[in-house]
Amino acid sequence: MEDKKLRSQEWYGRKGKDGFIYRSWMKNQGFPHHLFEGEKPVIGICNTYSELTPCNAHFRELAEAVKRGIWEAGGFPLEFPVMSLGECSIKPTAMLFRNLASMDVEESIRANPMDGVILLCGCDKTTPSLVMGAASVNLPTLVVSGGPMLAGWFKGKKIGTSDLWRFAEQYKKGELSEEDFVAVEAAMSRSRGHCAPMGTASTMAAMVESLGLGMPDNASIPAADSRRKALAHMAGMRIVEMVNEDLKMSDILNRKAFENAIMVNAAIGGSTNFIIHLLAIAGRMGVELDIEDFDKFSAGIPLLANIQPSGEHFFEDLFYAGGLPALMKELNQKLHLDAITVNGKTIGENIEKAECFNREVIGTLEKPFKQESGIAVLKGNLCPNGAVLKPSAATPALLQHRGKAVVFKDIDDYKKRIDDPGLEVTPDSILVLKNVGPKGYPGMPEVGNMALPAKILAQGVSDMVRISDGRMSGTGFGTVVLHVSPESAVGGNLALVQNGDWISLDVPNRTLMLEVSEEELESRRSVFTSIDLGYDRGYVNLFIQNVTQAHEGVDFDFLKGSSGPVVKRDSH
Ligand code: FES
Ligand code: MG
Repeated sequence: MEDKKLRSQEWYGRKGKDGFIYRSWMKNQGFPHHLFEGEKPVIGICNTYSELTPCNAHFRELAEAVKRGIWEAGGFPLEFPVMSLGECSIKPTAMLFRNLASMDVEESIRANPMDGVILLCGCDKTTPSLVMGAASVNLPTLVVSGGPMLAGWFKGKKIGTSDLWRFAEQYKKGELSEEDFVAVEAAMSRSRGHCAPMGTASTMAAMVESLGLGMPDNASIPAADSRRKALAHMAGMRIVEMVNEDLKMSDILNRKAFENAIMVNAAIGGSTNFIIHLLAIAGRMGVELDIEDFDKFSAGIPLLANIQPSGEHFFEDLFYAGGLPALMKELNQKLHLDAITVNGKTIGENIEKAECFNREVIGTLEKPFKQESGIAVLKGNLCPNGAVLKPSAATPALLQHRGKAVVFKDIDDYKKRIDDPGLEVTPDSILVLKNVGPKGYPGMPEVGNMALPAKILAQGVSDMVRISDGRMSGTGFGTVVLHVSPESAVGGNLALVQNGDWISLDVPNRTLMLEVSEEELESRRSVFTSIDLGYDRGYVNLFIQNVTQAHEGVDFDFLKGSSGPVVKRDSH
């Protein structure tokens, strides 16, 4: 221990009444006095355990492993709960509450006596909300992810979340019985952990590791593998050292780290949600990052990982093939190898000895799994501030496409009419869904990969161009234009699209155009009225008033930046 006084001593090191108050009630848990004397860094374990967040339901055990490591290294672990967001249960969408959870995390860390933090993250939104909140305090911080589920098995075939969309279509067409559809539920989710494909949770775990916020292999060790707990134990040991070294988040999360994360995300075929969360994290850290950086730093990086939804395998298979370090090693000519990470080593040092054991799962730059990767950022009069598309999940023939708009004014309108036999739609049409953006839904749900009309599916067509201001699940696929900004609810041009308008999508040239004259758009704009969702109180009202657009990360405007770790006043 260096001479520097621990932050937690601002509480526990006090004399008289204040010290009594900060320590006495803690002792009702059986902690002896010496733990409060400033020799042991207090490590908060920020736990998103919840039975309503099944992907994180094993986090009590994981926290125990972290604690063993903290004790072993001479720290004092104190676990605390924060709001936990279960992607599969929360209505109207977990994204509506990401910023709320981040506020809980930020204030819980700042207000409490801790010197360093372990963030236990798993299901989609639990990673960005914890990282965002912790970033606005900036203590030494280390992320331990929960790990992916083991792939499911159904009728002799491996399955994961991405198959849900296919099963749902087969069920809709009558090709899968009710009984089988229910049987798939249990077959798919057979183990602890988060979604097995390269969905948003896996993407976030990879983001954490490529940013340098997680230990090597943190991303892909399966939740059910005992090495996940061993890693948690080691992370507990390491966070104590990080406090002693004063290695803070701001020492790790610089511009190089963000560029590395974007390059790795391209190579793994990560979720489009990555863009929104990384922009929000950069905003908290005060690092300049804009939506065009995602296209710029993805350029020239092919898809290396053969993982669903862009490929065939699962996130656990990445671990068996050598893990994220082995994949990152293929990018060693491109990455900033000198970027520092939580274990005190650089990315370059961390990947130096990595080996690939399965070229079927991890390709090389010379022999990638697919040339198409990354995220295409589109511009044009339909999306002046940008829109995104994931080329590796799209149909190549549709990447340059001109079609007539079939417009749904909101999600209810879509659900009511999509399977109507009278719907005027052909496979060449472009489905346009309005009012599913940050303010319009509200919360920007994962509905952008809307299911195709029944009568189109009946023709054996499996993909159409779809455009919205919403998001899509990281497990989704198709030629889907998402995150249109500005969104329709604030009067973006998306709001002005009418049935029969021609739209042209040109992904190679990164454009999305509504072929309607500016004059005509102006006259439509003059009669535009925004929808009134009737939220006049509470959190949702706060959300609608303060949320930023997709190209800005959908964070609250007032949460940008950091307030640091200092609290000046005492509690009594
Ligand atoms: Fe939790 Fe997919 S539902 S990760
Ligand atoms: Mg998801």
